[in-house]
Amino acid sequence: MFRTKTCGELRGANVGETVVLSGWVDSARDHSGVFFVNLRDRYGKTQTVFDAAADAALFESVKTLRNEDVVQITGEVIARPDGLVNPDMATGEIEVKAQKLVVLNRSEVVPFLPSAPEVPADELRLKYRYLDLRRAEMQRVLTLRHRVVKTMRDFFDENDFLEVETPILGKSTPEGARDYLVPSRVSQGSFYALPQSPQLYKQLLMIAGYDRYVQVARCFRDEDLRADRQPEFTQLDIEMSFIEMEDMIGLLDSLVARLMKEIKGVDIPLPLPRISYDEAMERFGHDAPDLRFGMELKDVTEIAKTVDFKVFRAVAESGGRVRGINVKNAADQFSRRDIDGLTTWTAEQFGAKGIVWFKVDADGKLTGTSAKNFSEEALEAIGAKLEAEPNDLLLFSCGDFTLTCRVLNGLRRRLAAQLKLYDPEEMNFCWVVNFPMFDWDEEENRWVATHHPFTAPLVEDLPKLDGDDDAIRSIRAQAYDLVLNGYEAGGGTIRIHDPAIQNKVFGLLGMTRETAKEQFGFLVDALQFGAPPHGGLALGLDRVVMLFAGVDNIRDCIAFPKTAKASDLMTGAPSEVAPKQLAELAIKSTVEPKTDEKADA
Ligand code: AMO
Repeated sequence: MFRTKTCGELRGANVGETVVLSGWVDSARDHSGVFFVNLRDRYGKTQTVFDAAADAALFESVKTLRNEDVVQITGEVIARPDGLVNPDMATGEIEVKAQKLVVLNRSEVVPFLPSAPEVPADELRLKYRYLDLRRAEMQRVLTLRHRVVKTMRDFFDENDFLEVETPILGKSTPEGARDYLVPSRVSQGSFYALPQSPQLYKQLLMIAGYDRYVQVARCFRDEDLRADRQPEFTQLDIEMSFIEMEDMIGLLDSLVARLMKEIKGVDIPLPLPRISYDEAMERFGHDAPDLRFGMELKDVTEIAKTVDFKVFRAVAESGGRVRGINVKNAADQFSRRDIDGLTTWTAEQFGAKGIVWFKVDADGKLTGTSAKNFSEEALEAIGAKLEAEPNDLLLFSCGDFTLTCRVLNGLRRRLAAQLKLYDPEEMNFCWVVNFPMFDWDEEENRWVATHHPFTAPLVEDLPKLDGDDDAIRSIRAQAYDLVLNGYEAGGGTIRIHDPAIQNKVFGLLGMTRETAKEQFGFLVDALQFGAPPHGGLALGLDRVVMLFAGVDNIRDCIAFPKTAKASDLMTGAPSEVAPKQLAELAIKSTVEPKTDEKADA
């Protein structure tokens, strides 16, 4: 038997037992004549003691141990002497008096110590991920991830859902992000696409009568990466038949409550709050608003039309918007230089041409370099609109609606983090509903589906499908996103099951039935064979775990993640392949092979 106990379970009650532990050497210290080895496994750490006086040969062998050697130690559990009990260690009441040591495997000197308090550099962590995963923090997050997934699976099982696996090698379909392609050897010149989500398959399962589907599904998207995006990520994917939006949202509300109870031990009130897409954009400038703090966007376009200040007036008169936020009680914390820094940042990040700012003085008056261009009344009106009080800092953006949204959302989030305006432990959920159905694509000069072409419009907006461009722009979809702390945690839609509506939507998207059939033929066919009303949603599992774990990058929630360049520093993927493999696939790369000379250069 390699072990009778784990390194995390011995307590005072075990004193007197003889135990066998196996694990990694977390630390090894020689205290002249007494040698302490802290042994570690994924359950915890246990202190073992080797006494030179008790067994000289054993003492000689323990002195050869190095960090991260894998060893087996047999010994007796003894109580630590009074005063040496370690309250910071779960096993701190006891130690194991070693009687036997077996070195199971030696370790080379490791590039970093998993037990060191400082976090190693990212590159090292990713290159030696198996060592990084030995760190307690990574174990905490992966354990939490397991518990989140288990809670979800239990919940769906209790609610009659079936988990069905869908293919990884699928068909490339348009819209959405770029596909990862896999060349076929048997059908040379043809490609599979890795799924961006199981979207089409889950709809086929509804048509097949599996009315409650769930899957922990791996998805692949070749898109620009950020802290909350990986090229390969996991969804908790759901689809249901004979439901409306309310049913879907209600089910997810219960799931969220269950997760909060199981993972955080907190009862939360239901239903979760809901706001419409239009309201989210108006009040927060983003479709995944962070509701943990205020600093809402306020519109002063009407006032801007009356002022001499050219920048404001020109924008306001030409159909643009002038909006601002009030950073409460912060004027004394921001110097002119700090504000210049914010201006540069918004220019670089969002293409803003500038920020107009005011500080509110002790009498409640707006002051600042631009103030001289405004009349008393205008300043008063602006102050009233933003509920200005002494020492507030007011920041304004002007331009088209989208630009003001981007700039003010960016500032709002950045300043809230900087000024610590929220409790980092808070879990703030809300639903954003009624997204626009179509977006106008300026480059392609056509309507595109905001979600996907099978999304159903709100019933009351159906007549607008036959309307003019303004009517079409105002069509809202039966689409809903679950937002957590300002992140899109999940999203879904009710799908169209009526062929007449589907044809109209295809038409608006510039697709004929024939081109739709070319792209989604199997689904278009299947929809004719008795499709039930259905809808679904997918949660970004990695993001949900990131937020429940309180870490700020989804990379830290994935055992073997990719870098921002979508590469795996440990395995070296992606990598070149042997010419023979390419030849079998009838593929020739247009990238010049790296010669040794070039590689050296
Ligand atoms: P959507 O594209 O909104 O919907 O994706 C659902 C959720 O998946 C997460 N997500 C990601 N997480 C990590 N890295 C990525 N690159 C990434 N992309 C998306 C987000 C997002 O909310 N089939 C539809 C769902 C449906 O309509 O049922 C879909 O995939 O948290």
